[in-house]
Amino acid sequence: MDWGLKNRLSSIIKPHNNRALMLAVDHGYFLGPTERLENPKKVIAPLLKHCDSLMLTRGVQRTSVPAETDTPMVLRVSGGSSIIGDDLSQEDITVSIQDAIRLNASALAMSIFVGSKYEYQTVVNLGKLVSEAEQYGIPVLAVTAVGKELGKDARYLSLACRMAAEQGAHIVKTYYCENFEKVVESCPVPIIVAGGKKIPERDALQLTYNAVKAGAVGVDMGRNIWQSDHPVAMIKATRAIIHQNANVDQAFKMYKQLAAQDSNKKQKSKGKKPNQNKSNKPQNKSKGKKPNQNKSNKPQNKSKGKKPNQNKSNKPQNKSKGKKPNQNKSNKPQNKPEPKNN
Ligand code: R5P
Repeated sequence: MDWGLKNRLSSIIKPHNNRALMLAVDHGYFLGPTERLENPKKVIAPLLKHCDSLMLTRGVQRTSVPAETDTPMVLRVSGGSSIIGDDLSQEDITVSIQDAIRLNASALAMSIFVGSKYEYQTVVNLGKLVSEAEQYGIPVLAVTAVGKELGKDARYLSLACRMAAEQGAHIVKTYYCENFEKVVESCPVPIIVAGGKKIPERDALQLTYNAVKAGAVGVDMGRNIWQSDHPVAMIKATRAIIHQNANVDQAFKMYKQLAAQDSNKKQKSKGKKPNQNKSNKPQNKSKGKKPNQNKSNKPQNKSKGKKPNQNKSNKPQNKSKGKKPNQNKSNKPQNKPEPKNN
């Protein structure tokens, strides 16, 4: 592995414990102003110092992140379809490698849609992106997208993750599922887990704990952090699991304490603040009563009736029956055979 690539990777997955806490704020690339991420600058500011890396688009990076930050940027370079369009899987590469370098990206991220109408296009794009990025020593994170009609079980996710790794992805981001060890075991590169739609804080911490226990390097979490009423408390608690080996009870206790402090602080500052609304402009107090902007943010695959053939002919072969899961193997980028640079 080239020095630059190794160096960038180690800024994302910390070499001392092989763990990573990535904060995802790239949702607007197909969801627009996602609930509680309407103003990315405000959302990112208090969280930036608590994550190991930030996953975002170039538009948000340029407009909403101070260039003085030393947090590594994981730049999403794919897109093209929206939540209201015909088919979310129709993505292409939308950012040039030159622009990614100008933005000092520590890694590039793109989605593949295995089992969808645009499977071929997105998988080939991944291969091409890896070839290009490796010329400059930039790692690629492949996101295995899931949709209504794509599976979310270990069989499907193993297929998608393995395909991403085979195309040369250096990290694979996927979803947690039952028997997640099997997904990790059959993927030769580090796996990081997405948080998914907002669930109660304790459940999100449990998901983080389970994912790491099953061999993931960490989480690339978005909604379960910034859609929480107490985002800083939540990211700190998540961090405690990933980097301090806290268990779920310890992390949730931490969350509750920090959340209580946060509420008190907000309450105090509310009480102290004189009416700053000098202009007497009517204030929009209908927080949370916004038009329903895809509350769950679940990407909906609109190609009704076109259920992709999951695993019929592409049977992912789980040959690991009876084999002890070697969790360290899959999660140690530094010990892996070095990919050749083109
Ligand atoms: C999805 O494709 C986006 O890349 C998000 O970054 C990803 O879903 C992680 O965010 P969340 O934890 O909200 O699922």
